[in-house]
Amino acid sequence: MKVLVVGSGGREHALCWKLAQSPRVEKIYCAPGNAGIAQIAECVPLGPMEFEKLADFSGEKHVDLTVIGMDDPLVGGIVDVFEERGLRVFGPRKNAAILEGSKAFSKDLMKKYGIPTAAYENFDDPKKALAYLEKAKFPIVLKADGLALGKGVLICNTLEEAKDGVKSIMEDKQFGAAGNRMVMEEFLVGREVSVLAFVDGRTIRCMTSAQDHKRALDGDQGLNTGGMGTFSPSPFYTQEVDAFCKEHIYQPTVDAMAAEGREFKGIIFFGLILTADGPRVLEYNARFGDPETQVVLPRMRNDIAEVFEACIDGTLDQIELDFTQDAAVCVVLASGGYPVSYKKGYPIAGLEKFQDREGCYVFHAGTKWENGEIVTSGGRVLGVTAMGSTLTEARANAYQATKELAFTDMFCRSDIGKAIDECAASE
Ligand code: AMP
Ligand code: GLY
Repeated sequence: MKVLVVGSGGREHALCWKLAQSPRVEKIYCAPGNAGIAQIAECVPLGPMEFEKLADFSGEKHVDLTVIGMDDPLVGGIVDVFEERGLRVFGPRKNAAILEGSKAFSKDLMKKYGIPTAAYENFDDPKKALAYLEKAKFPIVLKADGLALGKGVLICNTLEEAKDGVKSIMEDKQFGAAGNRMVMEEFLVGREVSVLAFVDGRTIRCMTSAQDHKRALDGDQGLNTGGMGTFSPSPFYTQEVDAFCKEHIYQPTVDAMAAEGREFKGIIFFGLILTADGPRVLEYNARFGDPETQVVLPRMRNDIAEVFEACIDGTLDQIELDFTQDAAVCVVLASGGYPVSYKKGYPIAGLEKFQDREGCYVFHAGTKWENGEIVTSGGRVLGVTAMGSTLTEARANAYQATKELAFTDMFCRSDIGKAIDECAASE
């Protein structure tokens, strides 16, 4: 079969890499792709929001399956455009992608169906939000309702900070139209875990757990980023947590969406926080996580094309997911200055050393070809994933591999997965 992947980051590189291992897949296209993806797929110069052109391309090339990696096109309704043309596509329709597209919607859904999450209020009037703050407890969490590149969340320690937050989200529109509405919620304390799951509308099959590191600097300092590194599995995601989430979160979310007439097919990414009172949902995403995908897919044994098809056909109940016991750690190599301002166009040294290396993979996030060489073209440049028989070993392997790569002003966090050591020490 021929597959088209829509997106251009490390997640899409990992998706193309995994699809390339499927005996069913004979050709992969990626729009727009990047320099790493170009080694395994034919890159197509179309943007992720060019729905009609992407659908035209898919029709002309007789693409059998299109996989949408990114949130913006999903929330914008790309799946509906493909389906109207009778094209097979993996991802939620617009009316289901709202699970990620509107935090106010997802909070109301959880409240209505008793899915555990932080206490909250939604606001579409900044005056009411400011009045509410006078009686609120601090810290408090402010969230722009819509998509904001993962940056629309402010944790405010004082009334003053929170007032400034309301002003910047709702009045100054720091995150654009995403801030027309806002959620204010209770601040929760606990370890964060991401769980990605395939969903076919009725059945849900969870992949293995992972943990992201969102802040730019060591010790969770610095600004929020798209994600600086991940590890999988999370040792904090115990069988007890899994059993609780299966009963109270995963299937209830799928059933709630179906009951609302918003049948969800695709990936649900559960952003969980493990509080002293049990797991709570921090957020839903309607797509694979980046860089969670870069540690989850290397551990997956299934043919991913088969799982995508089962989701589309509603036959996911016939599939059992299978993951290796091996652990994986991904360290993101970023451009100096990210996430604020950084330069692009620096040549990257060392990539050739990773051709066909078993157990260690370099997923490209922001790279392109320029004058016959691969250069940096984004804030997050590469994701270096390494496997190991334990998390500690995978972590050592990943950091060792980062030393073989170099570009001007390259930086990475040095403590990705450090929590693993904490966990091992307390056992
Ligand atoms: P979100 O995009 O909703 O996942 O929020 C981004 C990050 O903000 C999360 O990964 C958490 O680290 C933090 N966060 C969000 N909501 C809360 C909350 N209610 N309590 C504590 N931290 C939160
Ligand atoms: N790694 C977090 C995300 O993909 O949203």
